[in-house]
Amino acid sequence: MSVVVEGLTKAYGRSRALDGLSFSAYQGVTGLLGPNGAGKTTLIRMLATALAPDGGTIRLLGMDSARDQAAIRRRLGYLPQETGYHRAFTVFEFVDYVAILKEMVDRRARHDEVRRVLAEVGLSDVSHKKIRALSGGMRRRVGIAQALLGEPALVLLDEPTVGLDPEQRLRFRELISRIGEDRTVILSTHQTEDVTALCARVVVLKGGRQVFEGTPAELRALADGHTWLSDERSGVLSWRTGEGLFRNLGDAPAGSRLVEPTIEDGYLLLLGGIPAGATR
Ligand SMILES: Nc1ncnc2c1ncn2[C@@H]1O[C@H](COP(=O)(O)OP(=O)(O)OP(=O)(O)O)[C@@H](O)[C@H]1O
Ligand SMILES: [Mg+2]
Repeated sequence: MSVVVEGLTKAYGRSRALDGLSFSAYQGVTGLLGPNGAGKTTLIRMLATALAPDGGTIRLLGMDSARDQAAIRRRLGYLPQETGYHRAFTVFEFVDYVAILKEMVDRRARHDEVRRVLAEVGLSDVSHKKIRALSGGMRRRVGIAQALLGEPALVLLDEPTVGLDPEQRLRFRELISRIGEDRTVILSTHQTEDVTALCARVVVLKGGRQVFEGTPAELRALADGHTWLSDERSGVLSWRTGEGLFRNLGDAPAGSRLVEPTIEDGYLLLLGGIPAGATR
């Protein structure tokens, strides 16, 4: 187990960002899903040792995060949800600067590593451009590149696919699934397709607690038999599709036109607080 979190709490004034959260992750890609304010960023910042919990314990790569911060930091890569870039730096200079902070002292080896991660995210051609001259999606890729420096054992990515175009998302998925083969990757996202395409496991947070843990197929299966189409609005959650029919989630009335659910259906049903199979 590379990440074991127990009873994590964090309060900001009266609001509880994490409410006794227990969570674990191992080699491979784990996706964190949850609505705005669920506590994803708070959790990831704690895993990155950037924020201390009020209570609870975190073990990372066999080490105690309260005690072995420096050793842990040497082995992790972290993409924050909001990154502050030195906008006057070029892409190369910025990633090289992070590499220096990561104690890569040999200049030639470090520059090779910077070039490697920039190539991984498809930024070799713009490595001498100023950060401020990049598009938002390109800037996100610079953030992903710096998180990959030094082949960290634990990679934490907070909403890495925001702003990426479809082609880059595909590239990103290939890259991350390759990295997840022998390392632990934890990423948060609002894109359920990212989870389907790339995560072996998915964890859903809500109100600072873990409300689901399983495979993407298991999350989807929560909506099995609870997803149907109709001419009128009829589910607990119901919306009009492009074809003019309503797609409904909830307890299907007898004789409904049941359809195959997506992972998003399972996720929405879970958040709606309706346990699949429960009667209203
Ligand atoms: N620095 C802070 N000061 C006060 N409240 C905070 C702070 N950081 C987070 N919170 C609160 O903690 C809760 C969890 O926030 P967090 O950013 O972890 O959610 P999230 O799941 O990452 O949401 P999003 O999907 O919007 O990124 C929210 O209620 C938020 O308002
Ligand atoms: Mg967040």
